[in-house]
Amino acid sequence: MHTSPSSVQTELYQVDCSGFDAEAASLFLTAGANPYTDAEEFLFDCEMRADEMPRTIRRALLEFQVHSNSEGILLLRGLPVDPDLATVRTPANAHRSPDKHTHVSERSLAMIGSRLGHLVSYIQEKKGDLFQNLVPVPGNEQVQSSGGSKTRLQFHRETVFHPYAPEYLLLVCLRSDHDHIAETTHASISHALPLLSEDHRSLLFQPLYRTGIDYSFGNVQTVKGNGPVLPVLYGNPTDPFLNYDEDLMVATTAEAEDALDALKQAIASVYRGVKLVPGDLLCIDNRRTVHGRSSFTPRYDGFDRWLQRSFVVRDLGRSAIDRHPGERVIRTRF
Ligand SMILES: [Fe+2]
Repeated sequence: MHTSPSSVQTELYQVDCSGFDAEAASLFLTAGANPYTDAEEFLFDCEMRADEMPRTIRRALLEFQVHSNSEGILLLRGLPVDPDLATVRTPANAHRSPDKHTHVSERSLAMIGSRLGHLVSYIQEKKGDLFQNLVPVPGNEQVQSSGGSKTRLQFHRETVFHPYAPEYLLLVCLRSDHDHIAETTHASISHALPLLSEDHRSLLFQPLYRTGIDYSFGNVQTVKGNGPVLPVLYGNPTDPFLNYDEDLMVATTAEAEDALDALKQAIASVYRGVKLVPGDLLCIDNRRTVHGRSSFTPRYDGFDRWLQRSFVVRDLGRSAIDRHPGERVIRTRF
């Protein structure tokens, strides 16, 4: 189909927030409720603050929420950071940092997340914290989870096996790795789909794929294929959504396996990476784009790579049956 130049729109993947004036910066920097002891008040306050963010950032988030983009990511760069960040030590073992006394990173996640949907957590992940520290964990260097480091984290949709998987995944960077080599990798189905044959596409649209329960949800033996059977692709045939986990998903027939291999190769050839730095907040459209991480070498010296993560759903009601009323923690058992 011919596309006239006037109908081609420039897609927005990145928003520069470094030029915030004092008023905009103070929305992020001014102290408020404690996100860990008074979570609901913190979230409401953040949502109200987000209403006052500069119009350009609200517009970018609105477009991303409604139409996404072909990359399935939106990177906000240059956001305000916690004032003492340079001296706050990276927490060990993904526990909350005992020396982080300000909550700018948490506020950034909650404010940006509120424009996309509602923050939720999962009881199996970091005890249901809404703001989760992603740090390299000693002994887990080779593990396929956020605590790993020296091995590439393979491409996955976040919690692909879960009936209430988040529509968005938010990552805020508090500290890069020592060598500045760790990349957050991402690959969208929009870019991978044109590399797949019609036959492979049609197989991927059928429920021929058994996924696995994540290591962090209790599958510590890393058994593959112990989760539900799903189609890999669903939704619009020309602009589909994607269920995919490179590590844990297995095909149920030989033909289906060929198609899954083709998708794996397509993802490997279209993926991109971003080296997150402090002040970066990456929004990932979890229905269109799979993500992972390159390998890096931790030092366990208190200044290792440190991200915080939040999950966002568009409709809280879907998971109501598995949440306590008024709470954000999803308690589905596996
Ligand atoms: Fe992930």
